[in-house]
Amino acid sequence: MITFNKTPNKDFKILNLTDFQLMAPELNVEHEKGKIMRHTLDTLVEKVKPDLITITGDLAWGGDYDALMVLGPMLDKYKIPWAPLWGNHDQDRGLDRLDRSIKILSENKYFTYENGPCELGRGNYIIAIKENDKIIHALIMMDTHDRVPNLKSGIENDRSWAKLTKEQIEWYKRQVKMLKEQGCNESTLLVHIPIYAYRDAFKVAFNSNLDPKDISTEQSELGECWNEGYKDSFGVKYEDVCSYYEDDGVFDAIKELNHTKNVICGHDHVNCFSISYEGVRLTFALKTGPGCYWNEGLNGGTVVTISNDGKIEVKHEYVSLNKKS
Ligand SMILES: [Fe+2]
Repeated sequence: MITFNKTPNKDFKILNLTDFQLMAPELNVEHEKGKIMRHTLDTLVEKVKPDLITITGDLAWGGDYDALMVLGPMLDKYKIPWAPLWGNHDQDRGLDRLDRSIKILSENKYFTYENGPCELGRGNYIIAIKENDKIIHALIMMDTHDRVPNLKSGIENDRSWAKLTKEQIEWYKRQVKMLKEQGCNESTLLVHIPIYAYRDAFKVAFNSNLDPKDISTEQSELGECWNEGYKDSFGVKYEDVCSYYEDDGVFDAIKELNHTKNVICGHDHVNCFSISYEGVRLTFALKTGPGCYWNEGLNGGTVVTISNDGKIEVKHEYVSLNKKS
């Protein structure tokens, strides 16, 4: 378990970044995408002044070593601890390659990470936020892997997005039990691939008379596109929820333990909705930078603020490209 201390009477701010997915040449200072990436990171860090940076996966295409060698120092220069978990693209060329990527990133001073039990994947670990020696909040970082066979589609060799395994759900339950025993009453689960419940949440929360693609980020914050009971939702859905193809059982475990009140995922570059669903806020992290497919209006990061009473607030920090030099 990794521990951070929150100063009493001061907010603890976590800046979540996600899905950079840039190749080494694109990260060059002269490259248009490299410029946008640096502008985005500089703006976010300056504005949010985070105590901790988390990254919900897909740092580079196919675990591109050269890209990671540029990216690590780019993050380290802010002198703020940065804690990643892994996305499908960090491991789609095998775990040996991911292990080498981890080694490359670990050369950076502010890289903050634990591998966790290797039989569960890579990067299943806990970050505890303490105040006056008590854990007031925990971040549960988990590995949602890459792809798995889709046994239901009827298409030969069809591959679906992966999910947390049964063994990982058991690990999650043990961690929550341990956190409860230490007096910690609330946690946030961070993953790359969304859990299945994101699909159910959007279905019940969004006004089905509207087309999600017609809603702007500004409109999403006014409440009108959300059904009664979900008016505190925000963010947009411009693509399908790319989760495992059927219920993964994660949400049942979350509800059973009644400890995790926030889930944050990455993976879908043009989804950023956040819905409080059956007592748990399910949030798509805002994509950071222009890697792979993206929408210029959905660029930035997601800020999790832990305030004095342990209260959590989640919001997106959008970065416009207007001031890019
Ligand atoms: Fe992904």
